[in-house]
Amino acid sequence: MMLFGKKEQKPSHKAYAVVTGAGSGIGRSFALELAKRGGTVVCSDINLDAARETVGLIEALGAKGFAVQCDVGKEEQVTQLAEQAGQLMQSPVTLVINNAGIGLGGKFDEMTLEDWQWCMNINLWGVIYGCRAFVPKFKQLGHGAIINVASAASYTAAPEMTVYNVSKAGVRALSETLSAELKKFDIKVNVLCPTLVPTNIIKNGKVPHKGLLDYALTNLAFTTSDKVAKLTLDNLDKGKLYTIPQIDAKLFWLMKRASPDLYTKFLGIGYRLFK
Ligand SMILES: NC(=O)c1ccc[n+]([C@@H]2O[C@H](COP(=O)([O-])OP(=O)(O)OC[C@H]3O[C@@H](n4cnc5c(N)ncnc54)[C@H](O)[C@@H]3O)[C@@H](O)[C@H]2O)c1
Repeated sequence: MMLFGKKEQKPSHKAYAVVTGAGSGIGRSFALELAKRGGTVVCSDINLDAARETVGLIEALGAKGFAVQCDVGKEEQVTQLAEQAGQLMQSPVTLVINNAGIGLGGKFDEMTLEDWQWCMNINLWGVIYGCRAFVPKFKQLGHGAIINVASAASYTAAPEMTVYNVSKAGVRALSETLSAELKKFDIKVNVLCPTLVPTNIIKNGKVPHKGLLDYALTNLAFTTSDKVAKLTLDNLDKGKLYTIPQIDAKLFWLMKRASPDLYTKFLGIGYRLFK
């Protein structure tokens, strides 16, 4: 829009951010990176003490942060978060990072309905609630940005991860669709699809072979949560839809897209050999 012959300046989409699950891991890294880039951040988490810790780290960087308790599995809490965030920052929110999530693993027939509901409710519905709360606000504002944290699990189809894989495939489909639908409103979307990132996800989750998986997460990951957060924010700036940070995540992405049938066949053979 032109005002007095000059182009109206929109604030950066990173200026006023809300991060869910900001008390640990990737969410905390996003919050700190945003603070380093000059943003004000509402750090929300189901664990208020953890969110407060992140705010302490933000303040140590000389930036502004606010801690809000929010369970993303409850729509009324996410709606309230969206309202409260604008009031706390005294500005409309310009970026939401729907990051909160949990890990769940195990054979398909060992998963209970409660397992399905627990995981889908946080990992998928939590992101849907976040988008439902912020998209109308961004449309009204005339711009905005959304980062949804999915996973490489959204396309790798790794056995014994059905529920988690389904929840993350939903997040990716949601993000892809929103990216197309919201382009004309100047609302940017990025979806993050990493493989292993060293965080507390295994410790906090419900997974078999916890010790082994936590060892793999800590020692075999090709990246860190800080690097992942930086790359995702850079990709958002560049208008990219996908952030696929690690070499193994990229390789799986290419193989799956090149030949989904062959990819799944080899996955099945590998699983039979190693189990
Ligand atoms: N770490 C990995 O290897 C990896 C890989 C791919 C995707 N991811 C995704 O990254 C996101 C962040 O996970 P992380 O690895 O940083 O794990 P993490 O356990 O270190 O952090 C997750 C945070 O989310 C919070 N949380 C959990 N349930 C919540 C709820 N109902 N409402 C609000 N907050 C809640 C936790 O308290 C915690 O602070 C998740 O969506 C996860 O699925 C992680």
